[in-house]
Amino acid sequence: MTGQRLGASIFVNMKFTYFGHACFSIEFSGYNLLFDPFITPNPLAASINVNQLKPTAILITHGHADHIVDAVSIAKRTSATVISNWEIIDWLSKQGVQNGHPLNHGGAASFSFGRVKYTNAIHSSSLPDGSYGGNPGGFIVTTPEGSFYYSGDTALTYDMKLVGEEFQLRFAVLPIGDNFTMGPADAAKAATFLNVKTVVGVHFDTFPYIKIDHSAAKEAFNKVGVNLLLPTIGQTIEL
Ligand code: NI
Ligand code: MN
Repeated sequence: MTGQRLGASIFVNMKFTYFGHACFSIEFSGYNLLFDPFITPNPLAASINVNQLKPTAILITHGHADHIVDAVSIAKRTSATVISNWEIIDWLSKQGVQNGHPLNHGGAASFSFGRVKYTNAIHSSSLPDGSYGGNPGGFIVTTPEGSFYYSGDTALTYDMKLVGEEFQLRFAVLPIGDNFTMGPADAAKAATFLNVKTVVGVHFDTFPYIKIDHSAAKEAFNKVGVNLLLPTIGQTIEL
């Protein structure tokens, strides 16, 4: 799907680049948002040079290592704004990350690139050293180019209907790997709650527990009229 026309405004494309697992960037209008940085420990992402990433902001859904492990080094090198929950921003500040912005569930704040709302997720959130990571969440990012939603690690939840009611989403990024999060069938149902026609799947195939059948996953989404995109690591797609 390329840029959408909605009413009088013409949206430019948003560029999604996949860095493996649940790590990706979204670029638009000169901004670069990096989500859930987990690259250096992931052998599948060996082709990605973490030192070449130049995010405007780093958004972290929860404290698990597979979402945060490269955050400190990238944040210190780039001075990107780091957006997460209160406990994670507090933990990062103790490691010298100065540009944190804490949110908590249901709250939103405006940034240079747009507005970010922290949403509910059903999961857990301990930090890599065992510190309390607050409660896990997701993000709705609203920009002049439209809104998108990244749920973070979560079960299917009826709360997603509220997201679909409040926001006209261009696309959603959802975990589909099962075992620790939604699997394809629940993620397809989430897409219907969110009222989106395009979903990018993440959080699959990285570990044996979350290996999935790609064609079966796409079929689960096709059944509800939703296009599931599964970019390869390093690939950039336009949404
Ligand atoms: Ni997790
Ligand atoms: Mn995870």
